[in-house]
Amino acid sequence: MKALILVGGFGTRLRPLTLSVPKPLVDFANKPMILHQIEALKAIGVTEVVLAINYQPEVMLNFLKDFEAKLEIKISCSQETEPLGTAGPLALARDKLIDNSGEPFFVLNSDVISEYPLKEMIEFHKSHGGEASIMVTKVDEPSKYGVVVMEESTGKVERFVEKPKLFVGNKINAGIYLLNPSVLDRIELRPTSIEKEVFPKIAGEGKLYAMVLPGFWMDIGQPRDYITGLRLYLDSLRKKSSPKLTSGTHIIGNVLVDESAKIGEGCLIGPDVAIGPGCVVESGVRLSRCTVMRGVRIKKHACISSSIIGWHSTVGQWARVENMTILGEDVHVCDEIYSNGGVVLPHKEIKSSILKPEIVM
Ligand code: GDD
Ligand code: MG
Repeated sequence: MKALILVGGFGTRLRPLTLSVPKPLVDFANKPMILHQIEALKAIGVTEVVLAINYQPEVMLNFLKDFEAKLEIKISCSQETEPLGTAGPLALARDKLIDNSGEPFFVLNSDVISEYPLKEMIEFHKSHGGEASIMVTKVDEPSKYGVVVMEESTGKVERFVEKPKLFVGNKINAGIYLLNPSVLDRIELRPTSIEKEVFPKIAGEGKLYAMVLPGFWMDIGQPRDYITGLRLYLDSLRKKSSPKLTSGTHIIGNVLVDESAKIGEGCLIGPDVAIGPGCVVESGVRLSRCTVMRGVRIKKHACISSSIIGWHSTVGQWARVENMTILGEDVHVCDEIYSNGGVVLPHKEIKSSILKPEIVM
């Protein structure tokens, strides 16, 4: 089986992290977002993944070369010379997606995180006999997504409305599709949207089916959602009694600590924290609801909450970092500094406190 991941886009909403790497390579729960997806695809028997990309393909491919071997899965790029939207890239990659097996293929948005119930999706797709299956999930604020109105008993989609202005329902497109090759005959090679142009048509012909996704789901393409997504992800590890979660008297709730990270005496860590490879957390540090990426050093008695600390940054002694502070790669926060929602571009040194949410360039 094959799969295509829609990688394109500049990931502007996840800056300053995406100033260092393309969005799919931003770490989530201690590994690049896209690896969560590739591993899930591999687990259900996908043998080839096509990355639909419109910038920096070398960066992605260089990075993924190692994983191609480790995971024994073929990874290739299909590069656009202009952004083709969410459907155009499928037309561009047509030859890579079609073989003589006639099997359906997966399409994933690169910024969605879930338990990827892909096996269940294959069963669902076989059972309804339509042309395309999509996963849907319930959210409180449907207007920023694609909304699906479906027949509850069969899953048959009656309407698909992308980013509706008026309320049509609260089940939304989760960005995970299983499509028959015939769907490709509906897509022209030009910038076009699968949500606005393709799905409404297939739904109109009664051939689009939706499956309600079991478990959690989050689009982690924005900092606040990224932090919420980490909480949901760790919670699902807890429900599965995953051995990956850390325990100890200094740990509260769900915490993920890479085995190469060092944690000092008298720290209090959690809930909902991920500490990446090679990090050093000195003594007496307090961390909650935050992500600390590879190679970071947190000095003594610093306190970090609801924030993301980018790769190889340092946070000084007695510093206090909170309220959606996002430090880009290699940022250095001096001792005793306070950051209230600072968004700091890579390679900066912060010598004075950031008292209200602002971008520091
Ligand atoms: N290759 C390529 N080229 N990929 C693209 C392009 C492009 O021109 N434009 C967007 N993408 C990729 C993005 O990188 C992302 O993985 C996916 O297509 C969806 O784009 P987003 O920009 O993240 O869309 P969204 O989050 O506003 O809405 C989409 O996702 C929601 C779920 O998170 C839609 O699919 C909604 O219907 C859906 O509910
Ligand atoms: Mg998105």
